Amino acid sequence: MGNKITINTDIVKNKINKNIYGHFAEHLGRGIYEGLWVGEDSAIPNTNGIRNDVLEALKKLNIPVLRWPGGCFADEYHWKDGVGPRENRKRMVNTHWGGVVENNHFGTHEFMMLCDLLGAEPYICGNVGSGTVQEMSEWVEYMTFDGESPMANWRRENGQEEPWKLTYFGVGNENWGCGGNMRPEYYADLYRRYQTYVRNYGDNKIYRIAGGANVDDYQWTEVLMREAHHLMDGLSLHYYVHPGGFENKGQAVNFTEEEWDVSMEKTLYMGELIEKHSTIMDKYDPDKRIGMIIDEWGAWYDVEPGTNPGFLYQQNTIRDAVIAAVHFNIFHEHSDRVQMTNIAQMVNVIQAMILTEQDNMLLTPTYHVFEMYKVHQDAERIEMDVNTGAIEENGYKYPRVSATASKAGDGTVNISLCNLDKSSAVFVELDVRGMNVSELNGRILTADEMNAKNTFEQPNYVQPTSFTDYKLENNKMKVELPSKSVVTLAIK
Ligand code: AHR
Repeated sequence: MGNKITINTDIVKNKINKNIYGHFAEHLGRGIYEGLWVGEDSAIPNTNGIRNDVLEALKKLNIPVLRWPGGCFADEYHWKDGVGPRENRKRMVNTHWGGVVENNHFGTHEFMMLCDLLGAEPYICGNVGSGTVQEMSEWVEYMTFDGESPMANWRRENGQEEPWKLTYFGVGNENWGCGGNMRPEYYADLYRRYQTYVRNYGDNKIYRIAGGANVDDYQWTEVLMREAHHLMDGLSLHYYVHPGGFENKGQAVNFTEEEWDVSMEKTLYMGELIEKHSTIMDKYDPDKRIGMIIDEWGAWYDVEPGTNPGFLYQQNTIRDAVIAAVHFNIFHEHSDRVQMTNIAQMVNVIQAMILTEQDNMLLTPTYHVFEMYKVHQDAERIEMDVNTGAIEENGYKYPRVSATASKAGDGTVNISLCNLDKSSAVFVELDVRGMNVSELNGRILTADEMNAKNTFEQPNYVQPTSFTDYKLENNKMKVELPSKSVVTLAIK
């Protein structure tokens, strides 16, 4: 039996929340400073301090939501240090990430401006680990209160007359680890307390996100849901793909075929995690009111040789593009529960969209997947039946093809297909039901080597091209997917 995918275009499921295409930018390494913020006086062309080249590239991704300021940094961050005249802002040590000086030049106003320039909604993560309830409460007042109040007046003094619209607010980050090493029972109580003072001012309605589990800590989810489900709108989950494990994660570029296989298997594990955490959530929230918010995910390797170990700077290859595409296919499949995800991280950190070196920048293979997949944002997920078998190599097992399809507002059906095989092409027959296909446009991202990457010398080595390896007959498409490829087809 050949490989077959049946796409029932007339059976639409839930909407794929565009926030699944969210991002994360932490005060870590060169993620914010250099990567996004260069300051108004920089020789690098910028808009109010945000570098223009990076900004223009990011705008093309239609980024719906941006999480900030961390990460582990969030539970050490004191927001008052980052407002007011920049020259007076407190300098602190970023103890978690490299022990470097943080001058607080990128603070609340700069972040809100960045979101505005990107057209993204802000998602702020508050400090539970080392901050007070009052501090968190005043931050929300500062940002969202319209009337006369000490914090709202201070915001006006600092140049922002109108309150900002702020929907997404996280109450702490990884409070089982860097956010305070808490037990779930203790954090659940703190969550209940802190979130009480995260107020809705005027029309601003906050979507409160509780700090969720590390990978497969199902007990954490159980306790949080049991004790606080009625007080949360979202519950987070963090999971990273480390091919070699947490200690020796493996290299981003010089990896073996076996490391390709383990990376794929570990990517697929995201599906199992979502299902198991979801089953616990269903017990307390059968109607799925509470969103699963996967606010950190991605492939995390050892840092590039010779770079600061605390900066988490890594290269990005076609393997990362495949990993990103497979994640999206999994997120879509579970988009009745998964309402937001935020890849770690936006620029120069972990699985980044963009790498910079002084005034140069490059787009990574992962960037291109975000750009190719943006057609699925807020589209209706389409039912499909995928029969394409599995790959079993080096003791690892994973599907040969991963796929997703959705219907956009204008009726276009977008199909994304990913060949996970590192060495062989695959022929697939797509049986499109429920519509007559009269127009087809395809794009592909692939490469000859499994570790193909973009460099500052060759920034366009891996980039999407048009895809023509298909035959269309009576609504059936025969496509040839080259090894390690991501393909998107738009049909009308
Ligand atoms: O994304 C890097 C770090 O990974 C984050 O700061 C933390 O939340 C996680 O452990």
